[in-house]
Amino acid sequence: MSTPRLLNLVAELTYRCPLRCAYCSNPLDFASVEECLGAEDWRAAFRQAAGLGALHVGLSGGEPTARRDLPEIVEAAAGAGLYAHLVTAGVGRALRILPELRARGLRSVQLSIQDVDDEGARWIAGRSHREEKLSFARRVRELGLPLVLNAVLHRRNLGRVRRFVELARELGAERLELANTQYHGFALLNRGALLPRPGQLAEAAAVVAEERARGGIEIVFVLPDLLAGRPKPCMGGWGRKTAVVRPDGLVLPCHAATSIPGLEFWSVKERGLVACWEEAPGMNAFRGEAWMRAPCAGCDQRHRDFGGCRCQAFALTGDAAVADPACALSPHHPAVLRLREEALREPSPEPRLRGPDASSSSAPGAVARSFSRQS
Ligand code: SF4
Ligand code: FES
Repeated sequence: MSTPRLLNLVAELTYRCPLRCAYCSNPLDFASVEECLGAEDWRAAFRQAAGLGALHVGLSGGEPTARRDLPEIVEAAAGAGLYAHLVTAGVGRALRILPELRARGLRSVQLSIQDVDDEGARWIAGRSHREEKLSFARRVRELGLPLVLNAVLHRRNLGRVRRFVELARELGAERLELANTQYHGFALLNRGALLPRPGQLAEAAAVVAEERARGGIEIVFVLPDLLAGRPKPCMGGWGRKTAVVRPDGLVLPCHAATSIPGLEFWSVKERGLVACWEEAPGMNAFRGEAWMRAPCAGCDQRHRDFGGCRCQAFALTGDAAVADPACALSPHHPAVLRLREEALREPSPEPRLRGPDASSSSAPGAVARSFSRQS
């Protein structure tokens, strides 16, 4: 099989972040990942990505504005001909450096909004930052940059979907992503507090349909695949169009791939992006369809969802090569049904959330403190 063309690079510039969202997509062991790529390393990676055909780079984290050299990194991305898109929480230095990022070639911004009210934001992320985020969003628009608002939905904020839409309209966002929590990593730990109650998703979907009918803004509503009965094409397929580069240089097909033991991934610093994308054994482990077994092999959906998420398959069954248990056709689907029942049985009061600063001994506080130093 020939190697697919790389279309999209996710540059995880740092895992530092002042927030501690209970659905954080950082790996659980993020504190042990060294941040060892400088701006020149990123410049080389961007050039190689463009050479492989990539068009787009998401500058992400953690919180990418925690990096002092972000303007140089943006310039390197633009200089390589990539569409540079910033994925940020809009806090700390973000507002102050935004004009410079624009001047260096930033093309668009995605701002995370944890909740529409302070109490909800504090519950999920430890802090609110509401006014800071609103100022940041307005500045994005003043600078003429397209704005995407991203809200991760869960039991506590699903009932406020209409207010998220109102906020996005008020801020002049081009797109609102209402992404239900995907239950990996920290979110899986916190599922007892986050999984929606029966009926909540249908109510939110009805609000989304009404608001879409009003027009004026694109609204994306992403169902949690644990509840959908069919998996999503995670990352558009393993090693099929997107590469994630971690702060330590490791090149992965998705942000959670190192949770699957035994896979060998390579570092962009040691081998360069081309070899990491085309030849690394881990990158090729689940490319294409040769790895699929029944029921995926032969299923007419396999070209659409690529068998679902390998990391979720491993997390729930211990075998990354089985059909994603989120799929109702999977023999492992009962594991998902048990998970849902168990989460929805959680007693009241709800269990304490385990965010990035509560789950590992050294990381969390250290991460927040090192962000403060750099802000
Ligand atoms: Fe997708 Fe496999 Fe389920 Fe078919 S059996 S829908 S390919 S996960
Ligand atoms: Fe790794 Fe889905 S998160 S394949």
